Amino acid sequence: MRLSRSLLVGALGVTAVLCTPATALAAAPTPAPSLYRSSPADSLRRLDHPSGLRIGTAVNTDLLASTPQYAQITAQQFDSVTAENVMKWEVVEPQRGTLDFAAADRLVDFAHANKQRVRGHTLVWHSQLPSWLQATITSTTDAAGNRVDTSSLPASELKALLKKHVQEEVGHFKGRVWQWDVVNEAFNEDGTPRQDVWYQAWGGTGYIADAFRWAHEADPQAKLFYNDYNIEFTGPKSDAAFALAKQLKAQRVPIDGVGFQTHLDTQYGFPDLQANLQRFADLGLFVAETEVDVRSTLPVTAAVQAKQTSYWTQTLQACLAVENCISYTAWGFGDAYSWVPGTFPGQGAANLYDEDLAPKPQYTALQDVLRTTRAPHRAESGGGWA
Ligand code: G3I
Repeated sequence: MRLSRSLLVGALGVTAVLCTPATALAAAPTPAPSLYRSSPADSLRRLDHPSGLRIGTAVNTDLLASTPQYAQITAQQFDSVTAENVMKWEVVEPQRGTLDFAAADRLVDFAHANKQRVRGHTLVWHSQLPSWLQATITSTTDAAGNRVDTSSLPASELKALLKKHVQEEVGHFKGRVWQWDVVNEAFNEDGTPRQDVWYQAWGGTGYIADAFRWAHEADPQAKLFYNDYNIEFTGPKSDAAFALAKQLKAQRVPIDGVGFQTHLDTQYGFPDLQANLQRFADLGLFVAETEVDVRSTLPVTAAVQAKQTSYWTQTLQACLAVENCISYTAWGFGDAYSWVPGTFPGQGAANLYDEDLAPKPQYTALQDVLRTTRAPHRAESGGGWA
């Protein structure tokens, strides 16, 4: 059976080559390199095997193409990748009706070649909208200081646009994405719903359930997540996300998990992260740490370095302790490429590797946690192929 199958595939391959015009052959893309086979035994991706947890990173696809050392670390150290920017709406539909998945496809091909799973990020968000849509939006602030976005497009058109976007993007990657961040950052810090244009179009948060349903229709195997920041500690925002997750489960909306971005700052205390992961897991959901980094005011003193190392250690310990925590993703790995200094001037050093892509003590700390923690094994499989 095996033999005849491979003969058949081989024959089809030969036929395809014989029938392919020379121009198409010349244009065939170079296969993505397989770099993972040379992963050291002490790499994060090899050390994570006993737990079944996937250790991942956000990936900047420009660097993946331009910087061999960056590509090598991505492949050798991590067994899950997230598109830092190239799956966002502004990239995939730069002109209305014109789709461009080229950069995201290259990342997915790289992941496939390197036996990595893919976290899709992100489908429904108030930010990084395409310029043709952003141009219709004006922003004001309400009495509580929260932003209110208003589009000049009618609600019916906004609804149709969002449905088309979700279904086209999830459909394009069907079978190739493990987890999707379907809805990102739907709450303000005070726990009130963010009044973005989706809230406006639906007259409430009904867009969230619809987005999950559309994504599930487009790829029934993909695990669908709600993703947010500052929900690592108990408070109004975390409580609002919890109430949402509970409500969606009660309504049988196809939500599989909640992503805790976990952008931490050493000037604040370490959050009650494990307890929060656990209370969402107890709803029957998967959980994940999706964008981990730990920033500090520069320069980093010895005391601050020790605090950073401790925070990284605790983030991974919290995930390992919660059986439903199925992936742990660093938001990039090199300090030279972090989003942090652009958003928080004077702060940085938020990643596992320094400006020269040398591993820092927090990297070694994660190795130690993986080596020494007896974590329950998570046998989760689901969509994706790696
Ligand atoms: O691509 C343009 C380039 O053409 C231009 O020359 C350059 C000039 O500033 O900008 C480039 O775009 C930048 C883009 O990243 C790609 O590098 C944008 O200015 C910049 O704002 C954008 O920042 C991203 C940010 O999301 C936008 O909100 C960060 O890289 C990305 O790390 C960050 O990621 C978010 C998650 O998606 C959601 N959670 C929070 C997290 C951190 O903010």
